[in-house]
Amino acid sequence: MSYDDYDNMIEWTSALSVGNDTIDSEHKILMDMINRLYAATFLDSSDQLAETIVNELIDYTHTHFNHEESFLKESGYKDLDQHRVVHNELLRQVIDFKFAIVEGKARNSGSNLEHFLRNWMVQHIQGRDFEYAKTLGLKE
Ligand SMILES: [Fe+2]
Repeated sequence: MSYDDYDNMIEWTSALSVGNDTIDSEHKILMDMINRLYAATFLDSSDQLAETIVNELIDYTHTHFNHEESFLKESGYKDLDQHRVVHNELLRQVIDFKFAIVEGKARNSGSNLEHFLRNWMVQHIQGRDFEYAKTLGLKE
């Protein structure tokens, strides 16, 4: 697949909605960044571009997690501490991905890191985020 044929690797659909417009729109932004990072890492040849995008992704992930945690706190969500721990682990994983890029290892390690990018945020949304969405009655 060349850069020109590139289609988005992951796509937000209503099946990923947590029932809160602000959080959904932040998830869309994250997924857009993940798609761009995927393209830069695996389809383009510029490590510099991948590094720029992964830095943006780390920053925005941080921002988004802070927003989500504040929202969960305001909502009185009882499993907030656990959710925080999971967020910290996700951040650590994306920082590891950055190290792989900086060390020039991301492209050659192929499918493992592609798999990581494909699942990193989507599984979190469908797993832990859906738990609070259901508990707080944001979605069925
Ligand atoms: Fe979350």
